[in-house]
Amino acid sequence: MLEGSNIILRGLEISDVDELMKHWNKPEHRINILNKAPQSRDEEIEWIKGGWQLRSEGKGYIFAIVYKETNLYIGHLGLEIKDSTARRGSLGIVIFNKDYWNKGLGTESMQLIVEYAFNTLNLHSIELELFSGHPQAQRCYEKIGFKEVGRRREAYFNNGLYIDSIIMDLLKSDW
Ligand SMILES: CC(C)(COP(=O)(O)OP(=O)(O)OC[C@H]1O[C@@H](n2cnc3c(N)ncnc32)[C@H](O)[C@@H]1OP(=O)(O)O)[C@@H](O)C(=O)NCCC(=O)NCCS
Repeated sequence: MLEGSNIILRGLEISDVDELMKHWNKPEHRINILNKAPQSRDEEIEWIKGGWQLRSEGKGYIFAIVYKETNLYIGHLGLEIKDSTARRGSLGIVIFNKDYWNKGLGTESMQLIVEYAFNTLNLHSIELELFSGHPQAQRCYEKIGFKEVGRRREAYFNNGLYIDSIIMDLLKSDW
């Protein structure tokens, strides 16, 4: 378990699916993530089990984001090891309960996992990708120190439009 001032990051349990399913298929947070299709409870259980498997193989780590004051599971983070030789990982985050947006919790969660990635997993760099026109996410990542390193032009189709994606990365030496 990783602990910050307002949140903890812990492993996901099958019992977390109840809270996830209250929010997961709402469109408002799916607009900025790749997976748009509605998902079932059984699929989410398989996803959690898949996360355990990845962790046991040392290939990826999924953490539940829990708000300490209410002990509520509000989102999750995934860190995937993309290249074990170069020690490069890729990171994604979703706070699916929008009551918890814009309170600094995304930034706090990212800070905790970045510290874990560099100081416990010994990663050398971390990358992430976001849709252009998502200033809330971009600002959150910039606050940690991620820098834009490129764009994939019109790489995604979102809300009726082709949009660029922004690639950002963070080296341990930048951090
Ligand atoms: C993106 C996400 C992780 C950010 O987490 P968060 O807890 O809401 O973000 P934080 O509060 O830590 O930081 C958000 C920053 O963006 C700023 N912001 C919010 N809306 C903004 C806007 N329209 N324009 C400019 N800045 C904006 C906030 O003011 C804050 O910056 P500040 O601290 O300098 O004031 C979270 O909102 C989320 O999971 N959203 C749904 C799923 C998603 O989009 N995931 C990311 C896919 S790349």
